[in-house]
Amino acid sequence: MALQKEDDCSVVLKSFRFEEKHESASLTISIPEVLDPQYGMYVWPCAVVLAQYVWTHRGHVRGKTVLELGAGVSLPGILAAKCGADVILSDSAELPHCLANCRRSCEANELHRVPVVGITWGQVSPELLHLPALDLILGSDVFYEPKDFENILVTVSFLLRRNPEAQFWTAYQERSADWSIEALLHKWNLRCVDVPLASFRADKQHLAGSTLPGSHTIQMMIIHLKDTEQVKELENATDG
Ligand SMILES: C[S@@+](CC[C@H](N)C(=O)[O-])C[C@H]1O[C@@H](n2cnc3c(N)ncnc32)[C@H](O)[C@@H]1O
Repeated sequence: MALQKEDDCSVVLKSFRFEEKHESASLTISIPEVLDPQYGMYVWPCAVVLAQYVWTHRGHVRGKTVLELGAGVSLPGILAAKCGADVILSDSAELPHCLANCRRSCEANELHRVPVVGITWGQVSPELLHLPALDLILGSDVFYEPKDFENILVTVSFLLRRNPEAQFWTAYQERSADWSIEALLHKWNLRCVDVPLASFRADKQHLAGSTLPGSHTIQMMIIHLKDTEQVKELENATDG
């Protein structure tokens, strides 16, 4: 269904229905997509996988403070907010049309108190410094340009050092066998755990009543600080 024109591009409302058959629980999220070939204007295959992970862990997410990085149209963050999390959506401070997409997704789901902030990976800005304490960070398809990988992990590492018990939940699309973040994780004192898609029923081509993720190969990862105790000691040692 075409809704309105946005700078000469049609906006279309797409629905994603998350279900839990045994509990007869379900939740439908509406995402306005701009029919435009730019990044961040529509739901990427990773987003439905990460959203499915949030959905299957909604008991854990409820009441938590959650930041989504590179949110674009924000399916995982919107779902987390609908599951009872205090969510902050972010996208590049230099891409106002992507920040507008975050806001449009909030409006489509009647989420009127979700802050949308400009956070550019690798930059320490007032917006980054003023974030509240976080429990979770979400990132769907943020590892798509190798030149940005270190900037993303710099931001994640900065946030995890401030919130040592927090985790970064991220879904990643395999686009090249040569790409790896292993060395960067080591450099930034981070550890990654791979989550099998079958463990949260995401090993399917069609999720949440959509045609996504299709035939794309998606990985789900949880990234956290390598040694939380060690980081606390380091911070104590540098406090005075
Ligand atoms: C491939 S899209 C994924 C969008 C959305 N997370 C999804 O999965 O549907 C990548 C997103 O990262 C954002 N992005 C690109 N460069 C960025 C940067 N340097 N800092 C923050 N966000 C950035 C884009 O605006 C876009 O929303």
